[in-house]
Amino acid sequence: DIDSFLFKFKGYYFLRPGLDIGFLETLNDFEIREDDVFIVTYPKSGTIWFQQILNLIYFDEHRKSTENLETILRVPYFQYPDQNTDFVKRPSPRLFTTHLPYYLVPSGLKNKKAKIIYVYRNPKDIMCSYFHFSKKMPLPAATTIEEFMKLFLEGKVLGSLWFDHIKGWYEHKSLFNIEFMMYEELKKDLRGSILKICKFLGKELSDEDMDTVVSQAMFENMKLDPRANYDNILKDQFGIQEKGHFLRKGTIGDWKNYMTVEQNERFDKIFQKNMKDFPLKFIWD
Ligand code: PPS
Repeated sequence: DIDSFLFKFKGYYFLRPGLDIGFLETLNDFEIREDDVFIVTYPKSGTIWFQQILNLIYFDEHRKSTENLETILRVPYFQYPDQNTDFVKRPSPRLFTTHLPYYLVPSGLKNKKAKIIYVYRNPKDIMCSYFHFSKKMPLPAATTIEEFMKLFLEGKVLGSLWFDHIKGWYEHKSLFNIEFMMYEELKKDLRGSILKICKFLGKELSDEDMDTVVSQAMFENMKLDPRANYDNILKDQFGIQEKGHFLRKGTIGDWKNYMTVEQNERFDKIFQKNMKDFPLKFIWD
């Protein structure tokens, strides 16, 4: 029963554990600072990758590994403030992560001062990544990809309907100071993508620091970094012990290993119906 895992607020599904419903009511009025930075994603689109990249760009201690702070703690989830995270007391620049749809973010973001990076990925890979993830997490678990595909295409998952999320943000982009970044583009040109991120954020790194950022943002290296795998957090909050699983495969086109020809055709039809005339292109393999 999805209602025991998910909570619907203003038409959008949140993860029930750890959710502060009172805080959701205040989201709209949350005070935004000029130098706030938000990573916005639909789940499984590369969130932790960007959390890691921002950590590496902004924090010497992270880049040099002189501290052992979980990646997520410096770029905390905006909609799940835990007891240790007082967003108001956080020093600037504050970095946040969120899966929120455009219409639920603080209205202060519409003054276009704070920056938003929206990360998107082809939805077949999102679905496959999500299918695996749902088995590990307190989410409605599907035993087969067929079952999960139904939930995904009906938006009965944390994050609700993917089509609504990406279209909502893209169609309202003129309200925000927002940069759209594609997961697959990072896979194909990580250095070029990180340079683009730095440019958007107004950050300049030395060549040596840039080399470190690129190297530590690579899948193989991130997989070995406990800070980037939620190791401690998963253990403490969900009792999950397995190491390195959060970074599962990190490839483009893994959906081909899971979807049948028929499922793929069905998916394509729904995709075309929903994404007709949508200007952003996707890379499927
Ligand atoms: S979540 O739960 O919403 O925060 O998940 P999210 O972090 O958005 O997405 C997880 C997927 O991103 C992949 N990932 C990466 N791919 C390539 N390179 C790097 N460095 C990287 N870091 C994370 C991760 O492996 C998940 O995708 P799958 O396809 O399941 O491997």
